[in-house]
Amino acid sequence: MPLPPSIDIQSSPQPITALFGEATGDQKLECYKLGATAFRTPLTTEQYIRREMFIDTLPLTRNGGWRFWCLYNKEQPKQVLATCKTIHRDLIVRDASGTKRRRGYCIASVVSDETHRGQGLASFMLKKVAEWMDGPGEGSASFVYSRLSSYYESRGWNVHPSWELLITTKTKEPTEKTNLPPTRLLKASDVPPLCHRDTERLVESTENRDFASDMTTIAVLPTAEIVGWLHGRGDFYASELHGRVTEFKGSIDEVAGVWIYWHHDFRRNQLVIQRISRPGNDEKDIEAIASLLLDARIEASAWNLSAVSIWSPDSHAEAAAARISALVPSEVIEKVQRKSGISMVRYTGGQRSESMVFEANEFYAWN
Ligand SMILES: CC(C)(COP(=O)(O)OP(=O)(O)OC[C@H]1O[C@@H](n2cnc3c(N)ncnc32)[C@H](O)[C@@H]1OP(=O)(O)O)[C@@H](O)C(=O)NCCC(=O)NCCS
Repeated sequence: MPLPPSIDIQSSPQPITALFGEATGDQKLECYKLGATAFRTPLTTEQYIRREMFIDTLPLTRNGGWRFWCLYNKEQPKQVLATCKTIHRDLIVRDASGTKRRRGYCIASVVSDETHRGQGLASFMLKKVAEWMDGPGEGSASFVYSRLSSYYESRGWNVHPSWELLITTKTKEPTEKTNLPPTRLLKASDVPPLCHRDTERLVESTENRDFASDMTTIAVLPTAEIVGWLHGRGDFYASELHGRVTEFKGSIDEVAGVWIYWHHDFRRNQLVIQRISRPGNDEKDIEAIASLLLDARIEASAWNLSAVSIWSPDSHAEAAAARISALVPSEVIEKVQRKSGISMVRYTGGQRSESMVFEANEFYAWN
């Protein structure tokens, strides 16, 4: 059997040969520990390890839905020097040959051992992971969300516009519902059938949008697995940090057929809108979205989260936010470039982005 790909690095008292591969059972625990050194806050290392074990059981990630990759010391295979994970994504891809469902990946938790940084470990690992995605992994695209845009850009990922709308409040008084369309808060059991409808909507709108024959459009499908994954993850933090889980996962205006899902992000102290799903392009949906976003503000206050964040807001979302600030003057709206979580996409074989459109660049597809 050929030896795994390797890279030699300087180390004291002697150089190390690091081998690349998918983490074995023992190495996976070491990957969790290395991940904790960079990503655990506000959890303890022990809680972070439990988080990874919990996420391992969620429908999106169990049974190989996520894979841990690592570079490990050839002489001591339990010594993990760098790691990252690839997490399954269902994609819809439209190009000149038609519209197809494809597989993709999110790359997450990229980290190398602090004592060996700057020697090319992470770059080598990402190169090998990209080769796997292009080959046996059969990935049409991979996504990274990170503050290190120039780092990933020079390694084959294309940076996409990464705006967010923040809704905060000037007062300590709880936000109150105003004269906007009635809504109903969503519980976990409401989410799967809505995701099913939402996925059909996205496929249909991708098929029907104006399209130049030299363009490729890619979107991550908002399946129940991916939307529920963030809910599960949020609830892990809620129960570890607050001793209880969240009840409401979003809100719906049933008459308009418009709904949102949200994620309680206890790391950034925000309620992040995962997705705004609406049937078409009707201006009347702006009232519905305003009402739903106000529900999000109320949910954020209930959990002491300081802001509601909406990724890649379109004109409807911006108009809805403006409507909220007109109705409730204490609400403050701000549109900013995201400093972390910048969206980056790498297309199969590292193609450049000029002819690619990343549709529905919303938070549901994040890790
Ligand atoms: C980012 C990280 C994975 C790089 O690992 P590494 O093994 O040192 O990577 P390489 O040796 O292949 O590359 C080093 C490069 O990373 C860049 N880099 C590292 N940290 C950086 C930072 N905070 N901001 C910008 N660039 C950074 C270095 O400048 C260097 O760039 P160059 O190759 O253009 O000179 C490592 O610094 C790390 O684990 N950081 C903490 C976790 C993290 O931030 N992960 C990325 C977010 S997903």
